[in-house]
Amino acid sequence: MIERETFSAGIVGIGGYLPQEVVTNEMLAARLDTSQEWIQTRTGIVERRKAANSEATSDLAIEAGLRALRSAGNPKVQALVLATTTPDHRCPATAPRVASQLGLGQIPAFDISAVCSGFIYAMSVAVAFVNSNQFETVLVVAAEKFTTLVDNDDRNTACLFGDGAGAVVVSKVPFGSHGQILATSIKSDGALENLIKVNGGGSKYPFTPTNNASLLRSDYYLSMLGQEVFSAAVTSMSSSVNDILSIVGWHREEVNWLVGHQANKRILNLLCKSLEIPPDKACIHLDQAGNTAGASIPLALVAKCGQFKKGDKMILTSFGGGATWGALAMTWSDTPIIEQLLQ
Ligand code: ACO
Repeated sequence: MIERETFSAGIVGIGGYLPQEVVTNEMLAARLDTSQEWIQTRTGIVERRKAANSEATSDLAIEAGLRALRSAGNPKVQALVLATTTPDHRCPATAPRVASQLGLGQIPAFDISAVCSGFIYAMSVAVAFVNSNQFETVLVVAAEKFTTLVDNDDRNTACLFGDGAGAVVVSKVPFGSHGQILATSIKSDGALENLIKVNGGGSKYPFTPTNNASLLRSDYYLSMLGQEVFSAAVTSMSSSVNDILSIVGWHREEVNWLVGHQANKRILNLLCKSLEIPPDKACIHLDQAGNTAGASIPLALVAKCGQFKKGDKMILTSFGGGATWGALAMTWSDTPIIEQLLQ
């Protein structure tokens, strides 16, 4: 109890990785019934990245994890939590492979599946591990090869998503110091599961060598009720941010940065409006990376870290399939070197 008051979980390292191949709106417009203007005006996205066929989710995760570990000075890690919607295989989880390839030894390593809220969910677990003294240092990785879930010929989804990975090292920091994670809040509502779904390939409608005829093309890919997701995202993230503000006792005017899930710039603008937070306090990285699902928040942190100042008050918030949503309050530390995102 006494020791608990002397330390708290905080971010001590961060890294991100985007694959090399750039897919611009113009490239999509050349083969789909869409236009560069439609995509940019309706979503804010200008380009996104696509992993190579030879690059699996674990490869993206390992690269981001390596960079986060280097940024933290290569500490000893006691556990790894991987948020992903696109594990390398349906079985087993991808996290043990990532831990092993990173040379972390036989540490506990497991996947979390909360779609676009995966990072906030994984952070909640890591923070609980550290604050409860179970593990001193936890590597959190969010990695998505989301382009494998999307029908390349479906303009409703193909324009929105991209691949990428972000990672942070969560460890003990002195209580009250910059970089401290002050609170997390996570929620879900399974009544909304149809908003975002890949229908087939699970235990309910498994893919087998003989059942192809009974499955529709759409069963193989992500379907999304765009407008419903849009309004649920604004409402849920807004409510999560209000919850977390009251937990940590901050007034909304004190917030320096709102780092929301990078799905659609209009969602982030409306979120700011509903929270009465100026839109220029919202981090925007979706123009460069599209929606990278669980990876979008750590990627936005890495991409925009040059603008953050030590001690800045930050709220992270997300909404995703499940439905799942949540928020996290932290202050920005003078996290060591953050490497360039790309290549
Ligand atoms: N190009 C041109 N037209 C398009 C495109 C496209 N790429 N995509 C959809 N349209 C069409 C639709 O077919 C529709 O046509 P219709 O009127 O003839 O039926 C029209 O545009 C308008 O569709 P809306 O759904 O009203 O378009 P909206 O402005 O809502 O934008 C969008 C659609 C971008 C999907 C938006 O609803 C959105 O961003 N929703 C939230 C998505 C999101 O947040 N996802 C994150 C969670 S996902 C996760 O967790 C994995």
